[in-house]
Amino acid sequence: MTDFIEHIPVLLQESVEYLITDSNGIYIDATLGGAGHSQKILQQLGPKGHLYGIDQDHEALRAATDRVGNDTRFTALEGNFGYLPTLVPQEYHGNISGILFDFGVSTHQIKEPERGFSFQHEGPLDMRMSSMSGVSANQVVNEYDYKKLRDVIFHYGEERLSRQIAKEIINRRPLETTSDLREAVESVVKGQHTIKSVARVFQGIRIEVNREMDVLKLALKESLELLKTGGRIVAISYHSLEDRLVKNFFKSGNFEGKIEKDFYGNPITPIEQVNKQIITPTKEEIERNPASRSAKMRVAEKLEEVK
Ligand SMILES: C[S@@+](CC[C@H](N)C(=O)[O-])C[C@H]1O[C@@H](n2cnc3c(N)ncnc32)[C@H](O)[C@@H]1O
Repeated sequence: MTDFIEHIPVLLQESVEYLITDSNGIYIDATLGGAGHSQKILQQLGPKGHLYGIDQDHEALRAATDRVGNDTRFTALEGNFGYLPTLVPQEYHGNISGILFDFGVSTHQIKEPERGFSFQHEGPLDMRMSSMSGVSANQVVNEYDYKKLRDVIFHYGEERLSRQIAKEIINRRPLETTSDLREAVESVVKGQHTIKSVARVFQGIRIEVNREMDVLKLALKESLELLKTGGRIVAISYHSLEDRLVKNFFKSGNFEGKIEKDFYGNPITPIEQVNKQIITPTKEEIERNPASRSAKMRVAEKLEEVK
């Protein structure tokens, strides 16, 4: 089995710098993965600081816990970050200094063929980050009707040829492996853009399987319940759908990005962006870690509640 250590943390220095405003505060790493960010956070925390590390992937959680070792300032929690308030002890609600989201899948998950995330490795059509996920990629590919499948490919994969690809998949049923799915896409999209379309279709199906958009929305809303005033959310996104939701939420507190105003026309938002400019990896980071190339980081701070 590949080791979790091979996931290289993205925007490590920048994210941790923005996240920690109080070295003795309580923090959440909502996407523990290979514990790359968590280890750095723990290095920066003082003796009274505490870090909750969450992952829905049992294997990731186990490996990350081993990696962090015996640190009493760290607690690993297995579960979906869409249910943050049920994972983090009630007594800390409203008391959290910072929450980090490093969305998506880890290099480890992608490189394990049997997880079915990668179109570069032959494996079963799975793509579930947690064995608790409702549907697998196999069900999406083989059981969804035409309209549902087309919509997944179009909306979550942002693939223009969604109609033709959905039809081709349905014609080829049953599809068993990642190679079957890749070949279905390749038979529709010819030329130099084929691989991009394959990547988009795989992305769309992965988002559907893990309900990534719904869960992201829930998590951002719930983060506001957990944070103390001045507490921060640091979010690293890897595709435009994620980034759009984060951007709108940080701007307005809702996913439409519509700023509400009070009677006098003053904006009412529960949250404020800390970095006006989006933060992206440097050229050197991208050279060192090509997987970081699409990363976009945004930071926001919870504002005092207006009573
Ligand atoms: C990009 S990796 C994080 C890598 C980590 N920051 C590091 O540098 O080692 C994302 C991790 O988040 C987990 N994850 C994704 N969505 C999740 C969710 N809804 N709930 C809990 N964990 C999730 C994945 O299983 C994966 O291990």
